[in-house]
Amino acid sequence: MQFQALLEEIVATLRPELGREGQVASYIPALARVPAAQFGIALRTCDGHEAQAGDSTTPFSIQSISKLFTLTLGMREMGETLWERIGREPSGNPFNSLVQLESEHGVPRNPFINAGAIAVTDRLVSLFDAKAEMLTLLSSLCEEPIRYDEEVAASEAATGFRNVAMANFMKSFGRIDNDVAAVLDAYFHHCAVRMSCAQLARAVGFLCRDGVHPATGQQLLTERQARRVNSLMLTCGTYDAAGEFAFRIGLPCKSGVGGGIVAVVPDRLTLCVWSPALESSGNSLLGMKALEMFTAKTGLSIF
Ligand code: DON
Repeated sequence: MQFQALLEEIVATLRPELGREGQVASYIPALARVPAAQFGIALRTCDGHEAQAGDSTTPFSIQSISKLFTLTLGMREMGETLWERIGREPSGNPFNSLVQLESEHGVPRNPFINAGAIAVTDRLVSLFDAKAEMLTLLSSLCEEPIRYDEEVAASEAATGFRNVAMANFMKSFGRIDNDVAAVLDAYFHHCAVRMSCAQLARAVGFLCRDGVHPATGQQLLTERQARRVNSLMLTCGTYDAAGEFAFRIGLPCKSGVGGGIVAVVPDRLTLCVWSPALESSGNSLLGMKALEMFTAKTGLSIF
């Protein structure tokens, strides 16, 4: 398949729409300053062929896409015991909602909403330096040094009142072991990783290769674990828009409020799109359109 030509066609078709609809995330001050008129797309096949178009090498804030790698570290380190404190059901609520936590005794619905990722991060903080471990994983997956954007991390720490509330609320149920400030410091840094579409398409390569590391060939997750991550991406990876994503795109996806979305075609390829303007659930508007075009034109879908 001529992926390079297809990605260029998608960029050419969608570029005229840049800046017309959607809003850049404004609740994190450092993200509100990102120019909206940017669009990139990149993919990597399971056998290592890469294609990219538009602003595919521009680094952006990966935000909640980091929850995918937090979960990967949690599953790698803890296996089944990870699920003692985190559910696997879609929440049907916004990613930063607190409402279910009270009636569900501080157990977050899934690892991809903020409360779930904070709970997984707590488990990681008990095991090692979670900030360093995240960069080690990402740098090894991309074969390039990956860093935090300290300005974004500080901006989140200064304004992330809901996350502070959530972490304390879970702690009141005995579901957080560590000091809340230490857990949130790791969580905010994970959200503040800077990566490009090309790097992210490479980094999630293990999800289309049954858990095998795209560069080293080592088993990062078991085949079963990798397929389970994909299933959680499909049902919970795009929050209260997960139904719309399954309907329009039909692939496991994980989004972030920086405007990035990664998607997996199991056994075939991984891709990443990025455009900062978001729809109301916090997913990239043009990113969704690009993925919809990609699956319509290639016929690639899990359904
Ligand atoms: O904690 C937050 O609210 C942000 N750092 C991450 C939220 C996010 O990316 C949700 N995505 N769509």
